[in-house]
Amino acid sequence: MFRDRIFEGRTAVITGGGTGLGRAFALRFSELGAKVVLASRSLEHLEPTAAEIRARGGVATVAPTDVRVPEQVEALMKTAYETCGSIDLLINNAAGNFLCRAEKLSYNGWKTVVDIVLNGSFFCCRAAFPYMARQKFGRILSILATYASGASPGTIHSAAAKAGVQAMTRTLAVEWAEHNIRANAIAPGSFPTQGASSRLWVGSAEEAGARVRERVPVGRHGRHEELADLAAYLCSSYADYVNGETVTIDGAATWNHPSFEWQKL
Ligand code: HXC
Ligand code: NAP
Repeated sequence: MFRDRIFEGRTAVITGGGTGLGRAFALRFSELGAKVVLASRSLEHLEPTAAEIRARGGVATVAPTDVRVPEQVEALMKTAYETCGSIDLLINNAAGNFLCRAEKLSYNGWKTVVDIVLNGSFFCCRAAFPYMARQKFGRILSILATYASGASPGTIHSAAAKAGVQAMTRTLAVEWAEHNIRANAIAPGSFPTQGASSRLWVGSAEEAGARVRERVPVGRHGRHEELADLAAYLCSSYADYVNGETVTIDGAATWNHPSFEWQKL
């Protein structure tokens, strides 16, 4: 689908890049030629993905970082620049989530998720800006969720924070366009990852599969490669005129609220 190695000479900083969807972005961006910098709290999450990338001939750096701490985020960008020579692509993928009714959510529970998702994404953009502005090149991609534009009973903290990141994305797209920095977002539906299933999906794998078949018109979970290719497109020169957008990838689950018993027709 893409020219070979469209990200040759580029550096991609990927938060939460050791696990789940972040790992999928890291593998795909590396295949396409990017040097990748993987950032999250746990080296145990980062090292295996970095090793996998190196074993395939790619260049990967790990940078233990808590995105809630501005000084650590500054240090991440410094490491990325000093190790790789530029910071071209930033994927704000790190997140925290758990199921809790709004009235039972503690103040610290709310703050924790908002700190990771909303504040962490802003800190990363803010810390990457001087490098991207100096280069006159930057592509920022933030990973939302379909509920950023709707409601998400049971995850009010995440819904509010993701909606905030969406507004941030649109604002940065306007403010930083003059620096040739673009900001876009992806809103994924259901993609199987350990992080999501252990925290958000209740019941057995069979029950979860049945729920997905019922709710998602395409009849299955999304595949990691499908999401990674969309991310690559949005960070590539093919999408240079796409700015401030959120692209949904959910098999039409968002639109599946039929008013009538149409399936019996
Ligand atoms: C209620 C909870 C809770 C739970 C934590 N808290 N888990 N409250 N129910 N299940 C509360 C704690 O009691 C505490 O508040 C506060 O949240 C902070 O908890 P800590 O454990 O101290 O926080 P920390 O160690 O920083 O861990 C952050 C975390 C954790 C978010 C709580 O789950 C984490 O590290 N998550 C990272 C990975 C992740 O969540 N991946 C899922 C992404 S999937 P008090 O008041 O007691 O101090 C995703 C999919 C979206 O986003 C869409 C799917 C369709
Ligand atoms: P995941 O594997 O749990 O990913 C979350 C990542 O965030 C982990 O690598 C974690 O690494 C990192 N992280 C958490 N707190 C951090 C912090 N304070 N600082 C730095 N890194 C931190 O779950 P996932 O399913 O792949 O989710 C990836 C992204 O997709 C998230 O933004 C999520 O909201 C979004 N999403 C997922 C789905 C889905 O169905 N899976 C659907 C919609 C949206 P450490 O623990 O090492 O810090």
